Amino acid sequence: MAQADALVYLNGNYVPLTEARISVLDRGFLFGDGVYEVIPVYGGKPFRLGEHLRRLDHSLAGIRMVSPLSDQEWTDIFSRLIEGPHDQYLYLQVTRGAAPARDHAIPAGIEPTVFVQCSPIAPIPVGGIRAVTLEDIRWHWCHIKAITLLSNVLLRQEAVDRGAAEAILVRDGWVTEGAASNVFIVKDEAIATPPKSKDILPGITRDLVLELAEKHGFAAEERNFRREELDTADEIWMSSSTREILPVVELDGAIVGRGEPGPMWRHMQAVYQSYKQSLRDSAKLA
Ligand SMILES: Cc1ncc(COP(=O)(O)O)c(C=O)c1O
Repeated sequence: MAQADALVYLNGNYVPLTEARISVLDRGFLFGDGVYEVIPVYGGKPFRLGEHLRRLDHSLAGIRMVSPLSDQEWTDIFSRLIEGPHDQYLYLQVTRGAAPARDHAIPAGIEPTVFVQCSPIAPIPVGGIRAVTLEDIRWHWCHIKAITLLSNVLLRQEAVDRGAAEAILVRDGWVTEGAASNVFIVKDEAIATPPKSKDILPGITRDLVLELAEKHGFAAEERNFRREELDTADEIWMSSSTREILPVVELDGAIVGRGEPGPMWRHMQAVYQSYKQSLRDSAKLA
């Protein structure tokens, strides 16, 4: 949990979290009209910063906005908010800003609202998670990291109500991603994840898993797969910036594989952790 007196960035100022205020006319508040990013920080350095800032640009372009800040300005804000070498994450949000009146159409000439906060990363579950499959009820532009997350919220809560940590979403019989993660299956030592499309968020962790798979000689492909393939998969993984790669050990009440994190996950986990550690080590030397 972030401390109440921790400094956050809001529209050019650094203020204690509890004193940060925005207008009730902010279109983020009224319409969910904005986008966000979540960037892990290891060894005091933002992880895959360039990739996160490029995805931010794409999300902004998708909602007819441009970044209000340059890469250097973002980086300066992040440096000011990051404290110490422990693992933490940056949350940044850009909304279209406050207009004089509530109107769906986009008003000209309003200033975006920019918010950045740095918080400790919550402990990552060990031993694997339970997941449930749910119908993907979200809109058709899931490639945009929009703050409009009501369907994701309801889907995740449905999973929690059913005793699971995450929902795996299915659209017309095809697996898309998790409520807040990307999804992978492993069958006969081959990894598969759905290709990038408007149905999924292009996860930075997803890309890294594919990159590490290639570098370390794992068989991996981007292909669509149907809900039924989850039932015969040897392993299922979910990936996200703050939860890394989570093995699913139970799906819809049935055991996945042997009901414990599988050998391919253990291998990928080792590779992923050593990649992270190399970044921490190089940050120490810098
Ligand atoms: C819907 C959705 N898909 C995928 C991801 C994973 O993306 P990343 O690895 O960039 O955190 C997230 C992260 O929050 C998400 O919300």
